[in-house]
Amino acid sequence: MQTEALSDAAQLTVRPLHEHFAAEVTGFDMRKPQPPEIQKALRDLFARYSVLVFRDQRVTDEEQVAFTRIFGDLEGTTFSVAHSHPYVYQLSNIDENGEVLKPDTTKRLFLEVNARWHTDSSYRPIPAKGSLLSGREVPEGEGETAFCSMRVGWQTLPDEMRRRVEGLKAVHNYAYSISLFDPDGAGVTQDELATVPPVVHPMVRTHPDTGEKNLYVSGHIERVVGLPEAEGRALAEELIEWCARPGYVYEHHWRPFDAVLWDNRCALHRATAIPLTQRRIMHRTTIAGEGPVT
Ligand code: OGA
Ligand code: MN
Repeated sequence: MQTEALSDAAQLTVRPLHEHFAAEVTGFDMRKPQPPEIQKALRDLFARYSVLVFRDQRVTDEEQVAFTRIFGDLEGTTFSVAHSHPYVYQLSNIDENGEVLKPDTTKRLFLEVNARWHTDSSYRPIPAKGSLLSGREVPEGEGETAFCSMRVGWQTLPDEMRRRVEGLKAVHNYAYSISLFDPDGAGVTQDELATVPPVVHPMVRTHPDTGEKNLYVSGHIERVVGLPEAEGRALAEELIEWCARPGYVYEHHWRPFDAVLWDNRCALHRATAIPLTQRRIMHRTTIAGEGPVT
């Protein structure tokens, strides 16, 4: 039993994709239930690398949901964003007629919000733990997703800046980030926005699985508690830019049926430009957070 368990976990191959975080993991089939040893190995890799890339995983929504549950309970879908299953967001640049969305269409807005560095659901009282994005139809040569690490951002932050940030809290507000793209409010109703009032989170948190500190900043930050609005926003931007400075970003170039899992507690991500001619259809499951993190 023990030997079998070891050989099961040993079938996984891990190839780091960046000096500080992100790894490609092969050697398992996401469509099948995973034995406990593989589940544990995957959870450990998730905690260690923050971003895991799985190749050629031709999952259905049901299989994606079942696999994502290895990492925790799921967050349900909300807002006007299309979903193909109660737990699966459909991030697609295709309209009802099967055409690629034109610029300035409301549906495109939800994709464009993703082009700012962010961490998913940071505007909720208990932000998401992780997200798994499956590339069902992916463009060639564009539509990449970029990742950076707020753990590395904190670890490399100059002492003076650490002292400035430690103890600060930021207001995350979905209405704020959507307003940057949709000043007229065409995309989200007031009723929907009322379900996500602004929330406050510390700007430095301790990762519950690793015990390491990391920055916690996001494009959803509207202001910093106790600072003038412009100053707070500039500070949040500066910290985000620090985490995403040259040499500290992993950019994922999608192949069909890649799946990328990221840790929203300590990684930032953003979509690069959403293609205007090529189809791009991604299905996302979201792992619910487990509690407020200090
Ligand atoms: C997301 C997201 C970026 C992308 O799914 O949460 O931000 O490249 N996606 O589609
Ligand atoms: Mn996102």
